[in-house]
Amino acid sequence: MEKLVSLAKRRGFIYQGSEIYGGLAGTFDYGPMGVALKNNIKNIWWRMFVDGWEDMYGVDAAILMNPKVWEASGHVSGFSDPLVECKKCHKRFRADHVAEVKQRAVAESLDLKKISSDDQELLICSVSDPISRKEHDFGPVRQFNMMFQTQIGAIEGSISYLRPETAGGMFVNFKNVVDSLHPKLPFGLAQIGKAFRNEIAPRDFIFRSREFEQMEIEYFVAPETWEEHFEKWRKDVHLFIKSVGIDEAKVHELEVGEADRAHYSKRTIDFEFDFPFGRKELYGLAYRGNFDLSSHQAASRQNLNYVEEGKEPFLPHVIEPSFGVDRTVLAVLASAYTEDELGGETRVYLKFDPKVAPVKAAVFPLLKNKPELVEKAREVFIMLKKKIPQVMFDDNGNIGKRYRRQDEIGTPFTITIDFDTLGENPDLLNTVTLRDRDSGEQKRVHIDELYPLLAEALEV
Ligand code: GAP
Repeated sequence: MEKLVSLAKRRGFIYQGSEIYGGLAGTFDYGPMGVALKNNIKNIWWRMFVDGWEDMYGVDAAILMNPKVWEASGHVSGFSDPLVECKKCHKRFRADHVAEVKQRAVAESLDLKKISSDDQELLICSVSDPISRKEHDFGPVRQFNMMFQTQIGAIEGSISYLRPETAGGMFVNFKNVVDSLHPKLPFGLAQIGKAFRNEIAPRDFIFRSREFEQMEIEYFVAPETWEEHFEKWRKDVHLFIKSVGIDEAKVHELEVGEADRAHYSKRTIDFEFDFPFGRKELYGLAYRGNFDLSSHQAASRQNLNYVEEGKEPFLPHVIEPSFGVDRTVLAVLASAYTEDELGGETRVYLKFDPKVAPVKAAVFPLLKNKPELVEKAREVFIMLKKKIPQVMFDDNGNIGKRYRRQDEIGTPFTITIDFDTLGENPDLLNTVTLRDRDSGEQKRVHIDELYPLLAEALEV
């Protein structure tokens, strides 16, 4: 995990939020490579589930919503985590995390010195005697609401919340979309956007942060058909996992038992991933019955019934696949991280699926102080950039350093312009070296062949 975090920073994927001011816990900033990777992931999702479906409707709802939305959805009263506070050091933790680490410590007879500093903090009180290393002295467990409250306008007491999930914005627009587009059941609403949770203990890099992004779908179905749609969605979640290059061998389905399911849900599956810090939730798939529409219907006093010819008006039921963008980024990075040996040297590279790679190809002049090489390299770069936007020009450092950098960025192909390109060897005039990231193999190809070759290999 440390290697991944350090690569993410070194190569411009992800930085600590507000870093020059010492950071802000639970926030991260995506750099140039990270934002490109994230956009590629979001675009694949949108193309797969919205553009690729006849019956899916995209929305982009406001983050700030009428607080009644969150009262009706149950978030104001129940969106909380159990919190404990140490009476000595006054640090606060999630009670379930403390219990989990304690259990592991006992079960695996963990040597406290060997467990991660995050976990040590959960167990050992920092103001206790450093020799006896005493445990925290926790007070009673209390519920801590995770929604960020904010003031609306200049009137004190007029509050709202930063949305804790994107789902709410879709339920409140159900009627709008039905009235304006008259979709037939089954149909879905889809949304990608930021969500905010005041996590008690943000941890594990971008896995659990206070500001993150979700890609969610509320798929409305006739009540008697929910099981068949649930099964279809279950397969579609796997299709998405595959298409972004997440290592499927590390993905596991967990049937959530009745005791852990929301009371209205008859079935929920957590898709878990073997992250470097353990097996944890990647995505969720839940059957929510008509809980949301009926709650919003009761609270808003608007008729949200769906009218179908020959049937009594009814509230459709909902299947909700929920994908975290940041957890996708982390699972994609963890799946792509590879160390091997090339030319007798150990190298690190990101073996991204070309579809998600932030840079598809990088063009180099062999030497940056030879204007004729730079000019030809820029010509090739501009020609490719017009057709493949995620192409980069790189003349920083020597050629070995550029290969290492592009390997760490996960660039599938690098193209080098040398003196033979300019005709030093007349047989090689207008040819370039095309290097494959994974094998490190290089071959000579004509400039005219470059785009067709790349287009096929990159599927662009
Ligand atoms: N509408 C359902 C819902 O929000 P959830 O399981 O609370 O369900 C869905 O969240 C997904 O959002 C999770 O599977 C995860 O991918 C992502 N997620 C939730 N909390 C997160 C956090 N604090 N940081 C990063 N991602 C988070």
